[in-house]
Amino acid sequence: MKYYFAPMEGITGYVFRNAHHACFSGVERYYTPFLAPGSGKGFSSRELRDILPENNRGTPVTPQVLTCREEDFIKASKTLAGYGYGEVNLNLGCPSGTVTAKGKGSGFLADPERLDRFLDCVFSELSASCPGLRISIKTRIGYVSEEEFPALLEIFNRYPVSGLIVHPRVREDYYKGKPRMEAFRLAAGESRIPLCYNGDIRSVSDAENVETEFPGLSAIMIGRGAVACPWLMEQLKDGRWKRKTDEEADEETNEELRRRFVKFHDMLLCGYQEVMPGDRNVLFKMKELWDHFGSHFPEAAKELKRIRKAQRIAEYQEAARSVLQSGTALYQ
Ligand SMILES: Cc1cc2nc3c(=O)[nH]c(=O)nc-3n(C[C@H](O)[C@H](O)[C@H](O)COP(=O)(O)O)c2cc1C
Repeated sequence: MKYYFAPMEGITGYVFRNAHHACFSGVERYYTPFLAPGSGKGFSSRELRDILPENNRGTPVTPQVLTCREEDFIKASKTLAGYGYGEVNLNLGCPSGTVTAKGKGSGFLADPERLDRFLDCVFSELSASCPGLRISIKTRIGYVSEEEFPALLEIFNRYPVSGLIVHPRVREDYYKGKPRMEAFRLAAGESRIPLCYNGDIRSVSDAENVETEFPGLSAIMIGRGAVACPWLMEQLKDGRWKRKTDEEADEETNEELRRRFVKFHDMLLCGYQEVMPGDRNVLFKMKELWDHFGSHFPEAAKELKRIRKAQRIAEYQEAARSVLQSGTALYQ
């Protein structure tokens, strides 16, 4: 099975991706948070920094584009192909109101005819101008209702889409409630496109359950679960971790995970300090990450609070160090 790191706006930018790739194995591909090219304008300088080859050296990355305008998608894809990317991913999942109001992200799913015309145009144009460039799709299963999904799937199936990543929720679910597995079963049965499952995988057993139920899957994409547990894909991929039972998950295993978690944390902190102006911004980023990391340290409530309250990097570092050294068993 292949494991992809999900795109997460505000979290999985290039500093995060490179640090993760340096510290943990098992991720086949990292998808960038969406790039939303302005009408006719191309990428912003922040977006360009995220995809420039010199900022992504050695890390397998697929850029994701969010737009409902054919010409903007085509222009963005040509730019990305020019930087050497072999795949561009179309975002049909973003639930944010400001995005969907413009008919983008999951908002595009509400107008299947328009989506069909969009795909027709971009596939015919790009197959001529960028032959070999793969176009994949990351989608929800509908805007309002999962009953929209069969028609959407039929549309996707008509095009040479290189991969279909399905997050089985509708827009109105945002990220809450249980994934709608019935709709995913339909995708598993009907998709002619290599299929990737995405949603609520937080542990080895969550992933194994999906793999057992859907043996034909080409990949699993993990977002929040892999931010909280950055070694999750390595655990899934690497037999060395898998063979261990609870009793075997000894002190040594936990110490190795802790050492690599500390390295990952320090690379993130240094990386953000290098590219972000001012401690306030860096602290904001790190605190956001601790909303995810914190789940491993339930007994370090006081130190976690010190992280949240820290106003200066030195204060933050001291609090983070004491949490990271606390006695929790990281292996699960
Ligand atoms: C903070 C946040 C930012 C996200 N940003 C993006 C994004 O830029 N592009 C995208 O396709 N999905 C985005 N997602 C959705 C995730 O890629 C993923 O589909 C979702 O979190 C469900 O997977 P998970 O349960 O493994 O996290 C975002 C999700 C969150 C929570």
